[in-house]
Amino acid sequence: MTAPIYLSRLLTDRAMAHLESLGVPVRVGSEAPPSRAELQAGIRGAGAAIVTLTERVDDALLAAAGDGLKVVANVAVGYDNIDVAAATAAGVTVTNTPGVLDRATADHTFALILAATRRVVDGDRFLRTGEPWVWGPRMLVGLDISAGATLGILGYGRIGQAVARRARAFDMTVLATARSRTPGTAEDGVQFVDADTLLAESDVLSVLTPLTPQTRHLIDAAALAKMKPTAYLINTARGGVVDESALITALHAGALRGAALDVFENEPDVDPRLLDAPNLVLTPHIASAGEATRDAMGILAIDNAAAVLAGKPALTPVR
Ligand code: GLV
Repeated sequence: MTAPIYLSRLLTDRAMAHLESLGVPVRVGSEAPPSRAELQAGIRGAGAAIVTLTERVDDALLAAAGDGLKVVANVAVGYDNIDVAAATAAGVTVTNTPGVLDRATADHTFALILAATRRVVDGDRFLRTGEPWVWGPRMLVGLDISAGATLGILGYGRIGQAVARRARAFDMTVLATARSRTPGTAEDGVQFVDADTLLAESDVLSVLTPLTPQTRHLIDAAALAKMKPTAYLINTARGGVVDESALITALHAGALRGAALDVFENEPDVDPRLLDAPNLVLTPHIASAGEATRDAMGILAIDNAAAVLAGKPALTPVR
């Protein structure tokens, strides 16, 4: 009997229809994340596991799966939820979903940049108080990003490049740091600089680097202290890249003008101090949540699983 594909959570309707069209046995979780026990039971005996970023794939889970597991396909571009070394040692291919979510994630990054700098959420909250108001020249004034502001991109991968393209359309000066680029060089209107220059010169700093042991708390109190007090910090990567306590302190101290976070250090828990921090816009990890994008992410993960099960190379393996 063919080993089933285990899918830890319900994907979009289109992705679910795609999975069904493969005609292979499937075992499907529910919309909510599985408990650890449900995850272990679900993956047992599977040939492929399609998981989301809410599932931790480690040694113990791989052991629970048994010898038949060939591939773990993450429905995300980030894969810090998966112990890739353990999977590789167990002969299990790991895949992610690069490319298909670049535009949606860059769009949301820009939505947050504009929401924070142009005080969209402040304005919405203010109106809902019911306080009398009248247009005023000093009312809810924010930063004009298109009047010569500098965007700094920390992590110039595919999503960083998509954010840079949007920033150029807003006439922003764009700086970036990336391991693969040399400071002092430029490409497509983006100037590559070292990390200290990026921190010091950005009016808006967009964090887009994956979470690794090297990038955990890359934006800590020392990094925040190097930023302009008039700058904004936007994180659409992973919560762990930013030291939330340091950010909260900086916002209360006025050492930063504002911030926006789509991701959190201890997701799904949100530090209650973030809810009270001034000039902070929050969204619940929805940067890739466009309809077409979520379909494409699910379908790519399914195709990765199916390819490996059929003895073919994965489409987008993690290397
Ligand atoms: C979402 O956060 C992803 O990594 O795809």
